[in-house]
Amino acid sequence: MYLVQTSNFRVKMKNQENNKPLILIVDDEDFFLKIISHNLEPLFNILIAYNGKEALNSVHKHSPHLILMDAVMPVIDGIQACKMLKSASCEKIRETPVVIVTALDDEDSVDRAFGAGADDYITKPINVHVLRRRIQHILKRRKAEDELVELNRSLEVKVNTEIKKRLDQETVLIQQSKMAAMGEMIAAIAHQWRQPLNALGVTIQNIKDAYRFKEVDEKFIDRVVSDSFHQIKFMSDTIDNFRNFFQHTKEKTAFDTCKAIKEVNSIMSAQLAFHGIKVKVDTNTTDNLTFKGYLNEFMQVLLNIITNAMDAILEARKKGRLGKKEGDIVISNYRKDKRIVIEVNDNGGGIDEKILERIFEPYFTTKKHKGTGIGLYMSKIIIENNMKGKLYAKNTGQGARLIIELEENGSTEGRYRGVKRI
Ligand SMILES: Nc1ncnc2c1ncn2[C@@H]1O[C@H](COP(=O)(O)OP(=O)(O)OP(=O)(O)O)[C@@H](O)[C@H]1O
Ligand SMILES: [Mg+2]
Repeated sequence: MYLVQTSNFRVKMKNQENNKPLILIVDDEDFFLKIISHNLEPLFNILIAYNGKEALNSVHKHSPHLILMDAVMPVIDGIQACKMLKSASCEKIRETPVVIVTALDDEDSVDRAFGAGADDYITKPINVHVLRRRIQHILKRRKAEDELVELNRSLEVKVNTEIKKRLDQETVLIQQSKMAAMGEMIAAIAHQWRQPLNALGVTIQNIKDAYRFKEVDEKFIDRVVSDSFHQIKFMSDTIDNFRNFFQHTKEKTAFDTCKAIKEVNSIMSAQLAFHGIKVKVDTNTTDNLTFKGYLNEFMQVLLNIITNAMDAILEARKKGRLGKKEGDIVISNYRKDKRIVIEVNDNGGGIDEKILERIFEPYFTTKKHKGTGIGLYMSKIIIENNMKGKLYAKNTGQGARLIIELEENGSTEGRYRGVKRI
C-alpha cells in the first residue's frame, strides 16, 4: 500500500492492478476502511478517502468505477458529497455509481441518500459477501448501460451516414431527372417550333418573290408583318408555357386534373402529331376533379408517362407490331369513390410481365442508351411521397395502362421533397 499525499488531502492507494475495477472507499473510521479494503482487494483496486472533500478531489483525479461512501463524516458529509458528484458538470463523474454505506437506518436518512442521487444504500454492520456481490452487480449493470449508449451512438452515426448517402443518391437522381426532363422539353419545343419556323421561312421567301415581281406595297408589308408577329408570338408563348411548366411549385394549389392533362397534351401535341399518334382525353365533365397538390410536379409525371407511351408506340411501329393500326393514346380522368383516377392507355404492346414489377426502380430501362430509367421512379416519388397518391401499371392486351390515383384528402399529408424542376 502506498500513500498519495497532496497539499490538501490524503489518499491511500493500493498498487493498481490492470483489469480490476477501481473502487473508492470513503469513511472516517480507519478500522472500517482496513476491513473493507482487505475484503475487496482480491477483486478490486482500492482507493481510500477520509471525508467527502477528499472523495471529491479523488474522483476528479482518479475516476473510480464506483464509490462506497459513508454518510456521516467531517468536512463534507457523504450525502452532500454524493449530491455534488451527481450534479457535476462532467458526465463521467455524474454517472459514477455511489453506494451509501452507513449505520443510519432511519427512513429519513435513506430518503436523503436516494434524494441526493445515490445508486444504492447499505447499512452497517456489513456482510462483506453481500457487499461484494452488490458492487459486482452494479458494475455489471453500468457496463451494460455504457455498452448500450455506445451502441446507440454508433447506430446513430451509421444511420446518419446512410441518410446522407441516400440524400446524395437522391440529389443525383433529381439532377438526372432534370436532365431527362430538359431533353424531353427540348424535343417538344423543337416540334412546336417547326411549323411557325417553316411559316416564317415561307413568308421571307414571299418577300423576296414579291420584291422581284414588284408586288411590295404597304398592304403587302402590313400582312407580312402581321403574319410574322403572329408566328413569333406563337413561338414566344410556347417558350413561356414551358418556362411556367418547368418552374417548381413549392406550394400546394387546388387544380383541375383534367385541365392539367389538357395542358400537358397541348405542350406535347406537335410532337405526337409529328409521329402520327392520336391522343384522346376522355373525361366526364360533370365530375369535380379538383385536387390540391403540386401542379407542375403532376404535369411532369404526365409528361413522363405520355413520353413512355409515345416511345412504346414508336418501338412497336418500328418492329412492325402495330400493323396498319394508328398509334393511340387515351387518357381517362374520372372520380371513383373519394379518389381522382387518371389512366393513360396506349396501344404500344404493353410491358413485358417479367419486368412489370421493376419499371419503377431507379435506373431501370429497356431503352439502352436512349433512356435513363428514372422517369417512372421520380413519378412514383412525386405521386406517392409528395401527393400521397398511388401510381401503378397494368397491361390491357393492346398496350400499357399507367394509373394515377389521388386521394381527395390524402394530399394534405404530402411533404414537399424538393423535386426540382428546370
Ligand atoms: N407505356 C409503356 N409501354 C411499355 N413499356 C413501358 C411503358 N412505360 C414504361 N415502360 C417500361 O418501363 C421502363 C422504365 O420507364 P422509365 O420512364 O422509368 O424509364 P425510361 O423511359 O426507360 O427512361 P427515361 O428516364 O428517359 O424516362 C421503360 O424502359 C420501359 O421498358
Ligand atoms: Mg421514361
